[in-house]
Amino acid sequence: MGRVRRVGILTSGGDCPGLNAAIRAFVKLALRRGVEVWGFKNGWEGVVNGDYRVLKARDVSGILPMGGTILGTSRFNPLKSRKDVDRALAVLDNLDALIVIGGNGSLHIAHAFQEMWGRVVFIPKTIDNDVWGTESIGFNTAVDVATYLIDRLHTTAESHRRVFVVQLMGRHTGWITLYAGMASGADVMVIPEFPMSERQILEYILRRKRMGKSFSIVAVAEGVRYARQREQNVGIYLQRYIARELDIETRFVEIGYVLRGGTPTAYDRLMAHEMGHFAFELIEEGRFGCMTAYGGYVERGMPIREAVGRLKTVPPEEYYAAMPYFG
Ligand code: F6P
Repeated sequence: MGRVRRVGILTSGGDCPGLNAAIRAFVKLALRRGVEVWGFKNGWEGVVNGDYRVLKARDVSGILPMGGTILGTSRFNPLKSRKDVDRALAVLDNLDALIVIGGNGSLHIAHAFQEMWGRVVFIPKTIDNDVWGTESIGFNTAVDVATYLIDRLHTTAESHRRVFVVQLMGRHTGWITLYAGMASGADVMVIPEFPMSERQILEYILRRKRMGKSFSIVAVAEGVRYARQREQNVGIYLQRYIARELDIETRFVEIGYVLRGGTPTAYDRLMAHEMGHFAFELIEEGRFGCMTAYGGYVERGMPIREAVGRLKTVPPEEYYAAMPYFG
């Protein structure tokens, strides 16, 4: 394609730490190359309503360590109405490219607009880490924060000889639960990919009791469901179950939105920076329909269509490698 003159950028779906680092890198590089950048407000809502501001260097100055997103975000899906799609397309026709920073829901929308309009580049972000084929902005920070919080529960659990059931975010996958659980030495990790019976959880707690440890930390991902569960929170269900079955004090803690707030780790900042930078390069090279896929400091442009409709789940070998440390 010819010279890139004007591009748009938006953040969509749940926020997470690191979004601003990606926005900053992309905008800075674009401005240095003489490209105008429209920052759409509140995700796709901003595109449909033509609600944007032209971003200047001062808009992205000082935002690197900030959590949240200076653009705002929403779960608004323009694909739900033909009218919204047409309005979005009319706005997009003013641009040479659009950067979408989002998770799986946004990936689906980005793919649809890539098919219709053809100039989309995607940057993956989600604390859940479930976008296929890549690491995602926000996950590393979420694991760090969850680890710190579980560490704090450990000491109080031990002092009071209690079982803490800690429910962590993770709608479809157990990445945060498994990684933060391993890092903090939780005693059982229960995740949607590898359902564990209630009885099995009790066994791990009892094993610890026999060893003289009268406290335990059970980490469970919010996406786990049991047949007998009536409670909305799986963590509350498990806490009540354990309290009923064992003669031991139990407590429930939910670690939710706190994982999405605050400042990103150095790893998330660097990855977000790299992705923002790389996204601009993909546009310059005309490699539309790609996402900035990242794995251990290595990045590549991966077709969005390869990831749509797929979920990156915890592989069996990772879970089975963790299991000997349960109980
Ligand atoms: O996808 C990230 C996530 O934080 C999930 O872990 C959680 O289930 C969901 O978003 C919560 O969504 P909302 O912000 O719409 O309540």
